[in-house]
Amino acid sequence: MKTVSADIASLARYILSADCQSIALLTGAGVSVASGIPDFRSPGGMYDTLKPELITCSPYERTLMEQDPTYVVSWEIFAKNAFPYLEVRRPFILGTREHQWKATIAHRFAELLHTKTKKLTRVYTQNIDGLDRQCDGIPDEKIVNVHGSISEANCEGCGATMEFGDFCDEVSENIKDIYKVDATAPKHSSPIVCRSCAKPLIKPSTVLFGRSLPQEFWTRAEEDMPTLDLLIVAGTSLVVAPANSLVFKANKNAKRVVINLEPVGAELGIDCSSSDGNEKKRDLFLQGNCDEIFLELVKELGWLDDLIEKTLPTSSAKLVTAAKTKK
Ligand code: OAD
Repeated sequence: MKTVSADIASLARYILSADCQSIALLTGAGVSVASGIPDFRSPGGMYDTLKPELITCSPYERTLMEQDPTYVVSWEIFAKNAFPYLEVRRPFILGTREHQWKATIAHRFAELLHTKTKKLTRVYTQNIDGLDRQCDGIPDEKIVNVHGSISEANCEGCGATMEFGDFCDEVSENIKDIYKVDATAPKHSSPIVCRSCAKPLIKPSTVLFGRSLPQEFWTRAEEDMPTLDLLIVAGTSLVVAPANSLVFKANKNAKRVVINLEPVGAELGIDCSSSDGNEKKRDLFLQGNCDEIFLELVKELGWLDDLIEKTLPTSSAKLVTAAKTKK
């Protein structure tokens, strides 16, 4: 049986080969965990730690959130009551204003892929944290924010935008802190209304369950998937459609690599079983922590010295320093 390192080495060879000219990434919350942002569905993740009893809502809404925590980020509840979304997302919104989180090794891998090889066709990120856009080396049009972005605000009713700083001020002054980290927060939430239509439907420009994905997702997927040579799927449970459809929209000749703590995507036709030395196998599963696997890959590609510790979260920087010392 081959080791993960041998698989990473063969992936690096493929990335640098003439056969591989077009590479896309489909990323999820796992690639940002090293920056300190929890994912959704792991123990300790946002859904696991959701406390409906603390949220401003009706008993019926509370029951629905208890049954299915994704309800808290759904259009169904937001249209009637914006507080659950805003209360749950309060620290993420305000932390984004403070630039609290840093791009991880996974994000920097995508940047190096572009600057070193020009083979990066697209990063499809389901994450709303904006960490991909911290990487100045990735041109804006190479990033598709499949589920929108937390660092912009607009009205779900009329579409009007609100300056993000103004929106943050409103969140800080009007939305209570269910996490008990901000002593200055109000004790009770009060509505934030759209300055255009006066409805309480203003929120970060993220995609709620039950709303449409940005047109850019469909247009780019149609452009990219037919000629793709490699799809790297990282840090995602692949349970949310239509983002997960990229794994079967990628043409049949495209190799698919999954980098994740656990096998994912079996129901979508991804084979996370061992490659056993078979380089012809379409799918490759690299099981482990994103930061560690991407660091190994960057090393194999000969780009280790291009990872700059001060741009990385502390835990990622330590990994990089240790790797540079071992060289
Ligand atoms: P999930 O929380 O569903 O999945 C994260 C995956 O990353 C899991 O399979 C974890 O095992 C894995 N993981 C966590 N930490 C990791 C690490 N350090 N290294 C490697 N793997 C790690 O998050 P997403 O798949 O991103 O949508 O969730 C998809 C969508 O569901 C989100 O965009 C959001 C959510 O509801 C909306 O809100 C519309």
